[in-house]
Amino acid sequence: MVNIAIFASGRGSNFSALVEAQGKGELRARISLLVCDNPQAKVLARARKAKVDIALIKREDFVSKCDFEAAIIKKLREYKIGLIVMAGFMRILGPDLIRSYKNRIINIHPALLPAFKGAHGILDAYKYGVKVTGITVHFVDEKMDHGPIILQGALDVRQKESLAALEARMHKLEHQLYPLAVKLFVGKKLKIQGRKVKVLP
Ligand code: GRF
Repeated sequence: MVNIAIFASGRGSNFSALVEAQGKGELRARISLLVCDNPQAKVLARARKAKVDIALIKREDFVSKCDFEAAIIKKLREYKIGLIVMAGFMRILGPDLIRSYKNRIINIHPALLPAFKGAHGILDAYKYGVKVTGITVHFVDEKMDHGPIILQGALDVRQKESLAALEARMHKLEHQLYPLAVKLFVGKKLKIQGRKVKVLP
Protein backbone atom coordinates (compact mmCIF):
# COMPACT_ATOMS: atom_id res chain seq x y z
CA MET A 1 0.00 0.00 0.00
CA VAL A 2 1.42 3.40 -1.02
CA ASN A 3 1.47 5.97 1.77
CA ILE A 4 0.51 9.43 0.59
CA ALA A 5 1.41 12.79 2.10
CA ILE A 6 -0.75 15.70 1.01
CA PHE A 7 0.91 19.12 1.17
CA ALA A 8 -1.53 22.00 1.63
CA SER A 9 -1.49 25.53 3.01
CA GLY A 10 -5.09 26.66 2.69
CA ARG A 11 -8.68 25.64 2.20
CA GLY A 12 -8.17 21.96 1.47
CA SER A 13 -11.01 21.11 -0.89
CA ASN A 14 -8.68 18.87 -2.90
CA PHE A 15 -7.55 17.24 0.32
CA SER A 16 -11.19 16.39 1.06
CA ALA A 17 -11.82 15.12 -2.47
CA LEU A 18 -8.87 12.76 -2.09
CA VAL A 19 -10.02 11.61 1.34
CA GLU A 20 -13.46 10.95 -0.10
CA ALA A 21 -12.00 8.93 -2.98
CA GLN A 22 -9.94 6.95 -0.48
CA GLY A 23 -13.11 6.28 1.53
CA LYS A 24 -14.76 4.86 -1.57
CA GLY A 25 -11.79 2.55 -2.13
CA GLU A 26 -10.85 4.36 -5.33
CA LEU A 27 -7.24 5.28 -4.56
CA ARG A 28 -5.79 1.94 -3.44
CA ALA A 29 -3.47 3.99 -1.26
CA ARG A 30 -3.47 5.42 2.23
CA ILE A 31 -3.50 9.15 2.93
CA SER A 32 -1.16 8.96 5.89
CA LEU A 33 -0.09 12.53 6.48
CA LEU A 34 -1.00 16.15 5.90
CA VAL A 35 2.01 18.46 5.69
CA CYS A 36 0.91 22.02 6.35
CA ASP A 37 2.93 25.20 6.85
CA ASN A 38 0.09 27.47 7.92
CA PRO A 39 -1.50 27.24 11.39
CA GLN A 40 -4.58 29.16 10.13
CA ALA A 41 -5.28 26.79 7.23
CA LYS A 42 -8.78 25.38 6.98
CA VAL A 43 -7.33 22.11 5.76
CA LEU A 44 -6.19 21.36 9.33
CA ALA A 45 -9.77 20.93 10.55
CA ARG A 46 -10.51 18.71 7.55
CA ALA A 47 -7.53 16.50 8.44
CA ARG A 48 -8.60 16.23 12.07
CA LYS A 49 -12.08 15.24 10.99
CA ALA A 50 -10.73 12.66 8.56
CA LYS A 51 -8.31 11.38 11.23
CA VAL A 52 -5.28 12.02 9.04
CA ASP A 53 -2.08 12.78 10.97
CA ILE A 54 -0.83 16.34 10.67
CA ALA A 55 2.72 17.63 10.43
CA LEU A 56 2.41 21.38 10.98
CA ILE A 57 5.85 22.63 10.01
CA LYS A 58 6.28 26.39 9.84
CA ARG A 59 9.00 28.01 7.76
CA GLU A 60 9.59 30.69 10.40
CA ASP A 61 10.65 28.06 12.94
CA PHE A 62 13.77 27.34 10.87
CA VAL A 63 16.77 29.45 10.01
CA SER A 64 17.01 28.24 6.43
CA LYS A 65 14.75 26.71 3.80
CA CYS A 66 17.12 23.77 3.81
CA ASP A 67 16.48 23.10 7.53
CA PHE A 68 12.73 23.55 7.00
CA GLU A 69 12.75 20.96 4.24
CA ALA A 70 14.98 18.62 6.24
CA ALA A 71 12.29 18.60 8.94
CA ILE A 72 9.67 17.77 6.31
CA ILE A 73 11.81 14.98 4.82
CA LYS A 74 12.29 13.51 8.29
CA LYS A 75 8.52 13.31 8.74
CA LEU A 76 8.03 11.82 5.30
CA ARG A 77 10.55 9.09 6.07
CA GLU A 78 8.89 8.42 9.42
CA TYR A 79 5.61 7.78 7.59
CA LYS A 80 7.28 5.84 4.75
CA ILE A 81 5.71 8.14 2.19
CA GLY A 82 5.71 6.90 -1.40
CA LEU A 83 3.84 9.78 -3.04
CA ILE A 84 3.62 13.49 -2.29
CA VAL A 85 0.45 15.18 -3.50
CA MET A 86 0.67 18.96 -3.62
CA ALA A 87 -2.74 20.50 -3.10
CA GLY A 88 -2.41 24.23 -2.70
CA PHE A 89 0.92 24.23 -0.84
CA MET A 90 2.03 27.82 -1.21
CA ARG A 91 5.78 27.23 -1.31
CA ILE A 92 8.16 26.20 -4.01
CA LEU A 93 9.87 22.96 -3.09
CA GLY A 94 13.65 23.01 -2.92
CA PRO A 95 16.08 20.63 -4.65
CA ASP A 96 16.66 18.40 -1.59
CA LEU A 97 13.00 17.51 -1.30
CA ILE A 98 12.53 17.16 -5.05
CA ARG A 99 15.59 14.94 -5.43
CA SER A 100 14.63 12.78 -2.44
CA TYR A 101 11.21 12.11 -3.99
CA LYS A 102 12.13 12.25 -7.67
CA ASN A 103 9.12 11.42 -9.88
CA ARG A 104 7.05 10.84 -6.76
CA ILE A 105 5.66 14.37 -6.33
CA ILE A 106 2.59 15.56 -8.20
CA ASN A 107 0.88 18.93 -8.31
CA ILE A 108 -2.43 20.30 -9.52
CA HIS A 109 -2.52 23.66 -11.24
CA PRO A 110 -5.71 25.53 -12.12
CA ALA A 111 -4.83 26.44 -15.72
CA LEU A 112 -3.78 24.67 -18.87
CA LEU A 113 -0.01 24.68 -18.49
CA PRO A 114 2.26 26.07 -19.76
CA ALA A 115 -0.18 28.99 -19.77
CA PHE A 116 -0.86 30.97 -16.60
CA LYS A 117 1.74 29.56 -14.25
CA GLY A 118 1.92 30.88 -10.72
CA ALA A 119 -0.35 31.40 -7.76
CA HIS A 120 -3.37 32.87 -9.58
CA GLY A 121 -3.99 30.62 -12.55
CA ILE A 122 -7.78 30.96 -12.61
CA LEU A 123 -7.82 34.73 -12.18
CA ASP A 124 -5.02 35.33 -14.66
CA ALA A 125 -6.71 33.25 -17.37
CA TYR A 126 -10.08 34.91 -16.67
CA LYS A 127 -8.64 38.41 -16.85
CA TYR A 128 -6.78 37.55 -20.04
CA GLY A 129 -10.10 36.69 -21.63
CA VAL A 130 -9.42 33.09 -22.60
CA LYS A 131 -12.31 31.10 -24.04
CA VAL A 132 -10.96 27.79 -22.78
CA THR A 133 -9.15 27.11 -19.55
CA GLY A 134 -8.69 24.05 -17.39
CA ILE A 135 -6.75 21.96 -14.93
CA THR A 136 -3.32 20.40 -15.19
CA VAL A 137 -1.97 17.60 -13.02
CA HIS A 138 1.78 17.18 -13.44
CA PHE A 139 4.91 15.75 -11.91
CA VAL A 140 6.94 18.29 -9.99
CA ASP A 141 10.46 19.13 -11.08
CA GLU A 142 12.77 21.93 -10.06
CA LYS A 143 11.01 24.63 -12.07
CA MET A 144 7.65 26.03 -11.01
CA ASP A 145 4.56 24.51 -12.69
CA HIS A 146 6.82 22.81 -15.18
CA GLY A 147 7.18 19.02 -14.83
CA PRO A 148 5.75 16.38 -17.21
CA ILE A 149 1.98 16.56 -17.60
CA ILE A 150 -0.10 13.63 -16.37
CA LEU A 151 -3.65 14.80 -17.10
CA GLN A 152 -5.43 17.92 -18.29
CA GLY A 153 -9.10 18.78 -18.31
CA ALA A 154 -10.52 21.73 -20.23
CA LEU A 155 -13.52 23.98 -19.62
CA ASP A 156 -15.13 26.55 -21.89
CA VAL A 157 -15.40 29.94 -20.24
CA ARG A 158 -19.04 30.92 -20.64
CA GLN A 159 -20.19 34.29 -21.95
CA LYS A 160 -20.63 36.70 -19.02
CA GLU A 161 -19.53 34.02 -16.53
CA SER A 162 -18.45 35.51 -13.20
CA LEU A 163 -15.05 34.66 -11.80
CA ALA A 164 -16.72 32.95 -8.84
CA ALA A 165 -18.81 30.74 -11.12
CA LEU A 166 -15.76 29.77 -13.15
CA GLU A 167 -13.79 29.04 -9.98
CA ALA A 168 -16.55 26.75 -8.73
CA ARG A 169 -16.54 24.78 -11.98
CA MET A 170 -12.75 24.60 -11.99
CA HIS A 171 -12.64 23.21 -8.46
CA LYS A 172 -15.26 20.63 -9.31
CA LEU A 173 -13.09 19.46 -12.20
CA GLU A 174 -10.02 19.38 -9.93
CA HIS A 175 -11.87 17.15 -7.51
CA GLN A 176 -12.55 14.67 -10.32
CA LEU A 177 -9.11 14.72 -11.93
CA TYR A 178 -6.84 14.64 -8.90
CA PRO A 179 -8.09 11.34 -7.43
CA LEU A 180 -7.86 9.86 -10.93
CA ALA A 181 -4.23 10.95 -11.29
CA VAL A 182 -3.38 9.50 -7.87
CA LYS A 183 -5.05 6.24 -8.79
CA LEU A 184 -3.02 6.05 -12.02
CA PHE A 185 0.22 6.71 -10.12
CA VAL A 186 -0.54 4.14 -7.45
CA GLY A 187 -1.53 1.59 -10.08
CA LYS A 188 1.86 2.18 -11.78
CA LYS A 189 0.10 3.32 -14.94
CA LEU A 190 2.27 6.41 -15.48
CA LYS A 191 5.50 6.12 -17.43
CA ILE A 192 7.61 9.25 -17.72
CA GLN A 193 9.38 9.52 -21.06
CA GLY A 194 11.23 12.82 -21.11
CA ARG A 195 8.60 15.57 -21.02
CA LYS A 196 5.83 13.15 -21.83
CA VAL A 197 3.87 10.90 -19.53
CA LYS A 198 2.51 7.76 -21.08
CA VAL A 199 -0.72 6.63 -19.44
CA LEU A 200 -0.89 2.84 -19.64
CA PRO A 201 -4.27 1.18 -20.16
C1 GRF B 1 -6.38 24.60 -6.22
O1 GRF B 1 -7.05 25.46 -7.11
C2 GRF B 1 -5.15 24.04 -6.87
O2 GRF B 1 -5.27 23.92 -8.25
C3 GRF B 1 -4.10 25.06 -6.52
O3 GRF B 1 -4.43 25.49 -5.24
C4 GRF B 1 -5.82 25.35 -5.03
C5 GRF B 1 -6.03 24.60 -3.75
O4 GRF B 1 -7.38 24.57 -3.40
N1 GRF B 1 -2.79 24.49 -6.63
P1 GRF B 1 -7.83 23.73 -2.14
O5 GRF B 1 -7.02 24.23 -0.95
O6 GRF B 1 -7.57 22.29 -2.43
O7 GRF B 1 -9.28 24.01 -1.95
